[in-house]
Amino acid sequence: MAEIRAIRADEMEQVAALFNNAYRIGMTTARGWTENLPPEETIAVVEKERVASFVRMNRYRVWVGGGEMGMGGIGAVSTWADLQGKGYAGKLIRESVRIMRERGDAVSALYPFSHRYYGKFGWASMGERIIYTDTRQDNLMPYEERALVRRCLGEEDIERLDTAYRTYALRFNGMVVRTRENWLRRLKHLMDEKGQAYLIENDGKPIGYFFCENVAAQPWGYECITRDFACATLEAYRAMFGFLAMLPTNVTKITITAPAFPPLIEHFKEPSFTMKWGVPLQYRVVDVERAVAARGFLPEAHGRFIIAVQDTCGDWNTGMWEIEVQDGHGKARRNPAARAELEMTIRQFSQLFMGHLDMVGLARQGLFSSVSIQTLQLVNTLFHDRPVHLIDAF
Ligand SMILES: CC(C)(COP(=O)(O)OP(=O)(O)OC[C@H]1O[C@@H](n2cnc3c(N)ncnc32)[C@H](O)[C@@H]1OP(=O)(O)O)[C@@H](O)C(=O)NCCC(=O)NCCS
Repeated sequence: MAEIRAIRADEMEQVAALFNNAYRIGMTTARGWTENLPPEETIAVVEKERVASFVRMNRYRVWVGGGEMGMGGIGAVSTWADLQGKGYAGKLIRESVRIMRERGDAVSALYPFSHRYYGKFGWASMGERIIYTDTRQDNLMPYEERALVRRCLGEEDIERLDTAYRTYALRFNGMVVRTRENWLRRLKHLMDEKGQAYLIENDGKPIGYFFCENVAAQPWGYECITRDFACATLEAYRAMFGFLAMLPTNVTKITITAPAFPPLIEHFKEPSFTMKWGVPLQYRVVDVERAVAARGFLPEAHGRFIIAVQDTCGDWNTGMWEIEVQDGHGKARRNPAARAELEMTIRQFSQLFMGHLDMVGLARQGLFSSVSIQTLQLVNTLFHDRPVHLIDAF
């Protein structure tokens, strides 16, 4: 008989063996994944004392609309190859929604192997990214602002890195609040194994940073990849691009992974590079009431509307909600007697909540035709405030 429960401390070697089987990463890496793994963040199907299937719910804090809330980062989802297709992972994913809500999370994020698979459980795709790649130094604008860049000294610069990161991260929905431990881990991983970190300062104030990760390129040299960066001002973007334009000649390929908005095309001399557009991320609202109460809203956002939400993995979210926003704060109250102005599945609501859904834009394309334009405009003013982005992976 299979049971569903958290992993026990003495089962970590079994969990590592499962990771190795599911991800084919070798036992050394798999054991690394189980290091410092808090059992209370885990859930597993255990069948005849064998850990058959596993899910981790990492604990994070994220900003949405400038407000801070608990986020469960789903990761390491795995089932032994000989036990797949029995619905084990699905059971755990369902159960994780209940656990995350109980422990106080408002939203959850994951990087899906299949958008359709997690879509069935309410996670919705968002967070468009562009990978600008296949380019060289001579196609980047050699801005003078590169003089604002200096090497990052590591631990002693964490506060400055975080100042730049916060300013930037608060302009998006879904970015993680980075702790000192998070920064230490990132810097150690980068500096020991992969590359360098740089700070951008103006008049002694941190206005940005960027990581350069180096990987071997074909047929020779190195590819310099920048995906963890924050630029708080136009000057900071110009400093980063100006610096990358001067990288030594053994860097034979430059790649920058950035949110699709704001676009970075102006910082290249010619658009003669590859742009790979992708949506690597899915977010889900775990608790409608808690999420709306914790979210921040723009000062000009105020109003009230009635929405019917349907959540097949969380009854507590299903039903008629009256959502009211005023003075930068929101409230979702149950109002079963009201008539819905809008009906959404939890997936659609998650896209709306995270700021991803441009309902007026969609209506102009002939979509959402059943909803009045006044309601769409109001809902857009309240929720369509910032692009969705997340750099941290789990
Ligand atoms: C993904 C995984 C955890 C699913 O485990 P499971 O216990 O078999 O999951 P379930 O039985 O609940 O669901 C099986 C579903 O996954 C789908 N699936 C499995 N592998 C898939 C793949 N590579 N691409 C798309 N769908 C896949 C099956 O088609 C099935 O879909 P259905 O529910 O529509 O029939 C398991 O295949 C695994 O460990 N894969 C390797 C590691 C991995 O990629 N993890 C996910 C990281 S986000």
